Amino acid sequence: MKIFSIVGARPQFIKAAVIARALSEKKGISHHIIHSGQHYDEAMSDVFFDEMHIPKPLYNLNISGGSHGVMTGKMMIEFDQLFEREKPELIIVYGDTNTTLAASLSAKKMGIKIAHVEAGVRNFDQYMPEEINRIVTDRLSNFNFGCTELAVTNLKLEGFESYAHCKIMNVGDVMYDAFLFYKGILEEKELDFFKENKRHVLVTLHRPYNVDNIGRLRMIISALNKLSEQLEVVFPIHPRTRSKLEEAAIETNFKVINPIGYFDVLRALDKAHFVVTDSGGLVREAYFDGKPSLYLLQDHVWPEIVNIDASIGLDVASETDLLEAFSKLDKMQFKYDASIFGKGDAGEEIANVIHALV
Ligand code: UD1
Repeated sequence: MKIFSIVGARPQFIKAAVIARALSEKKGISHHIIHSGQHYDEAMSDVFFDEMHIPKPLYNLNISGGSHGVMTGKMMIEFDQLFEREKPELIIVYGDTNTTLAASLSAKKMGIKIAHVEAGVRNFDQYMPEEINRIVTDRLSNFNFGCTELAVTNLKLEGFESYAHCKIMNVGDVMYDAFLFYKGILEEKELDFFKENKRHVLVTLHRPYNVDNIGRLRMIISALNKLSEQLEVVFPIHPRTRSKLEEAAIETNFKVINPIGYFDVLRALDKAHFVVTDSGGLVREAYFDGKPSLYLLQDHVWPEIVNIDASIGLDVASETDLLEAFSKLDKMQFKYDASIFGKGDAGEEIANVIHALV
C-alpha cells in the first residue's frame, strides 16, 4: 500500500517523524514523505530532518510565501499532478497548516483516502487561518485521529458520527510520543543561553493575530522587556516575527536568537521555568515537561490544560495584562495526566489502524 505523509511546517516534521518510525515496522506499506516547501530554511526545516532522522522527502514542491490563497492554490496544482502520477492510496496530513488543507482538497477530489492526525481541535475562532484549515480537513478526511477526548467530542458535536466514510477516534498525541522518544535519546549539550543565575523564560511568537498587529506586538515586547529585568528571557524568533519587529523598529532588551531545532527546544524546555508562546505545539511540550505556560491567544487551543491549571490563555490588551497573567504562573502546580494526551503510543495506534487497511 502506497502512503504519502504530507508535511510543510515545523510541527508537521515532528509528527511525521513519529508516524514514519511506526509505519516502517509494518509489512506491506510503502510510506514516503512529501514536503510542500512551506518552511524551507535550514533552521525551519533541514535541522528537523537531520537530527530526528526523518526519511528524506520523496518530493519537495518548493512552495512557500504569498497570500493564503496563492500558497494553497499553487500547492494544489502541484499535489494534483503528483497524486495523478504517483497514485498513493492514502495520504496522511498533520495539524492545520495551508499544506494540510491543499493536500486534502487535492486528494479528496481524486478519490484518495485521507488520514488526519490531530483532528477535531477547535478554538472556535473563525478568523484564525488554522481553524478554517482544520475544519475543512476534518470534513474531508476518512480517518480523523484526535489526540484528546475533547477533540473527538468536538467532532461528534459537529455530526461526524453520521458520516459513513469517516472514522473518528482518540489515539493520544503523537507530539507526546515524540517528546518521550527524543528526550530518551537526547545527547547532553550546553546551550548558549539560559546560563544566567535567574529564572528562565522561553518565548515564541508567530501568530498573525499577535505579530501582524503592530500595536499588540509592541505591547507584548514591552512586557517582555520588563520581565527581562528580573528573568532571563530567550526568544527564538520566527522569520515572520523578525521582519515585523524590524519594520516597526521595535526594540528588545532580551535575547532574541535564530529559530532552534527540536532537540534544542527540548533542552531549552528542560532549563526553562516558564513558557510564553502562541504556538499550539510548544504550549503542549511545556505541559509535557511540567512547565507552566502563558498562551497568548484568548481562545486557547488546548482548554484541557487550562482546566488543570497548567496553562493560561490571554488575549493581550495591555502590557499590564501580560505581566499580571505571568505573575500567576509561579503558583501553578500540575503533573502530567495520561488521560488527556495519552501514554505516548499514539504513533503505534495510528499505524495499526492504517496497517489494517493493507
Ligand atoms: C505556519 C502555519 C501555522 C504553524 C506554523 C509553525 C499556516 C496557515 N500556518 O505559520 O499553523 O503553527 O507554520 O511555525 O499554515 N519564512 C521564512 N523561512 C521559512 C518559513 C517561513 O523566512 O523557512 C517566513 C516567510 O516570510 C513566510 C513567513 O515566514 O512568508 C510566514 O510563514 P508561513 O509558512 O506563511 O506561516 P507561519 O507563520 O510559519
